[in-house]
Amino acid sequence: MTKKVYLPDDIPAVGKDILTAAGFEVIVGTGRQREIMKKEGAEANAVLIGTQTFDEDIMRAMPNLQVIARNGVGYDAVDIAAATRRGIYVVNTPKALSSSVAETAVAELLAISKNLYQNAKAIHEDNWGYRKQHPGRDVAGKTVGILGFGRIGQQVAEKLSGFGLHVIAFDPFAKSTDTVTIVDREMVFKKSDYVMIHLPAMPETIHSIGKTEFDMMKNDAYLINMARGNIIVTSDLVAALKNHDIAGAALDVFEEEPLPVSDPLVALDNVLLTPHIASNTVETKERMAIDAAHDIVRVLMGDQPVSSVNQ
Ligand code: DGY
Repeated sequence: MTKKVYLPDDIPAVGKDILTAAGFEVIVGTGRQREIMKKEGAEANAVLIGTQTFDEDIMRAMPNLQVIARNGVGYDAVDIAAATRRGIYVVNTPKALSSSVAETAVAELLAISKNLYQNAKAIHEDNWGYRKQHPGRDVAGKTVGILGFGRIGQQVAEKLSGFGLHVIAFDPFAKSTDTVTIVDREMVFKKSDYVMIHLPAMPETIHSIGKTEFDMMKNDAYLINMARGNIIVTSDLVAALKNHDIAGAALDVFEEEPLPVSDPLVALDNVLLTPHIASNTVETKERMAIDAAHDIVRVLMGDQPVSSVNQ
């Protein structure tokens, strides 16, 4: 019988072409909501998902499932234990997106330092004079502290060294190099002009950055989070931003996504908020689709996937 690959969200054609060339039927879905996915994916042998929750209840509704492919790197929204119990591979595409996420992180660091969003908005509001009271900040010579020195953290360090920043990082598995000094966690908060979060969301990291950490940060330092919203205690961040305990924050990820416009973060003027765009580029979406499709083909053909996170 023809194997079926369910895509709750559509992917670039290059990915679908790999799946159809391998002889699979591709089912492009109409939405990410639980009940829709359960219905549309009922006969799927493979599913390719974004950052939506994918728990055992959904897996149960897809009894033929052999592989859950994450179109991206973080797999915190997938119940890995349940997938493993059911003999389902979970695969991801870590190599495809690290450069794009690092580029976006650097873009957000520069944008918040130069008040790009507020200044651009001022033009549209016929307020050329905004700039007078709101000078930007230079980044050269400043210190950036990176939490989590995996693929993405390393690329951020490389790119920011080019802008003349000193790079320190905390990661229990990393070693200092010519351009990066590995320090303890407290030091990252105390010494950095920019604290950048590149950690996976896991029990040890969820809500691990809150008031204690914001109190350690300098009053003129910025926080940049491109990883997961739930790593931060958001209410503590809002308080730190309101009290000007830190200078500002650039956030691409939130505890609740989409971020409701009524969220207290939206009312602040010392934030740059973007809708989880770090890997959302034409080139990266194609690379992720290709890597995910190849691993789906491997599993459905009875081979080992190259990027399994659970087996
Ligand atoms: C991922 O793939 O986990 C990232 O959050 C995308 O930005």
